[in-house]
Amino acid sequence: MTEEEQQASELDRLVESIMVVIDAEDSKIYSRQVIDEFKDPANVGMVGNPDGIGIADGLCNDTMEITLKLEGNRISKCMFFTDGCGATIACGSRLTRMAIGRTVDEALAIRPEDLEKALGGLPEEHKHCASLAVIALRNAVRNCMKHREGQGGL
Ligand code: FES
Repeated sequence: MTEEEQQASELDRLVESIMVVIDAEDSKIYSRQVIDEFKDPANVGMVGNPDGIGIADGLCNDTMEITLKLEGNRISKCMFFTDGCGATIACGSRLTRMAIGRTVDEALAIRPEDLEKALGGLPEEHKHCASLAVIALRNAVRNCMKHREGQGGL
């Protein structure tokens, strides 16, 4: 499969996940914030020429990748890609929006509970989706710091 075909297939899966969660709206499983985030997710994709890349694998076998760019010590760009569920899309969207503008230390301090609170809560079976996103962000920030340290520090 070519890279373009793979991206198209991942996009199809993303759309499929969004549709599944939109269908769940009627069942009132998700908060309004979660529904808004997955209906119109922000920062989907990959930052070009990133300063840091972080990947996280969930117990459910879903993954999230976060790429980011720094300006000085602050995150100027942050994007995510996931093959996970609709709640994970909402988590990636909200978390990347939360991370942009924060310092690396502030980004590292974001906890899954903070993300869940910002989303108005998550159903018990989707709480791990917030952890998946936060771990991917932390890995991306640490990857950034490692690169910077190699170049003389942040
Ligand atoms: Fe696995 Fe959401 S990340 S169900």
